[in-house]
Amino acid sequence: MPTFDSRDPTEPAFWSERFEQRFMPWDRGGVPAALQQFVAAARKPLVTLIPGCGLGHEVAYLSEAGWDVTAIDFSPAAVAAARRALGAWAERVVQSDFFSFVPPQPLGLIYERAFLCALPRRIWPAVAARWAELLPPGGLLAGFFYFDDKTSGPPFGTSAAELDMLLTPHFDCIEDAPVADSIAVFVGKERWKIWRKKA
Ligand SMILES: C[S@@+](CC[C@H](N)C(=O)[O-])C[C@H]1O[C@@H](n2cnc3c(N)ncnc32)[C@H](O)[C@@H]1O
Repeated sequence: MPTFDSRDPTEPAFWSERFEQRFMPWDRGGVPAALQQFVAAARKPLVTLIPGCGLGHEVAYLSEAGWDVTAIDFSPAAVAAARRALGAWAERVVQSDFFSFVPPQPLGLIYERAFLCALPRRIWPAVAARWAELLPPGGLLAGFFYFDDKTSGPPFGTSAAELDMLLTPHFDCIEDAPVADSIAVFVGKERWKIWRKKA
């Protein structure tokens, strides 16, 4: 286990240290099956934002499927590593803070994986409010939500009731399914969920 100076996951330095030391237990190294099924079932490509993209494996997948995707991360080390890995799609990764990023065009989808759970729970109302601000009515928030009650993190987990309380002021949940291909840190503790922005 490497040692780290930064202890605050709301700071880019926390994440940069971990990317630089290649300590990324959250990284899936590929694209989860639920996202692949979602893309296959979509009637049309959606303009997509991936906040806190890390290595951004989904960027190549969505781009190759013809989707307009922008991935953002506030850690320079994450952005550099993602761009190195993405080759032709590198320019789709932008160094930016989720709370101030303004998408160049209206979004149809925000993809969530290991971003909410990367941040302390006190930040979550701001995350939910920004998700809601970024999506038009009918826009989708789809991805993986982590359920756990341990107080330390990251990852910081939630409960079904707490997540509903956080999101139902802005969104309706339209899909909720177990995940069969979780990596070790999330196994048995994450669900694939799709939330639709209310009118
Ligand atoms: C646990 S990692 C998950 C990375 C990626 N989503 C994945 O599934 O592998 C969390 C990421 O969120 C990024 N992050 C945290 N807060 C952020 C913010 N306010 N704006 C942009 N990125 C942020 C971190 O730099 C880190 O790369």
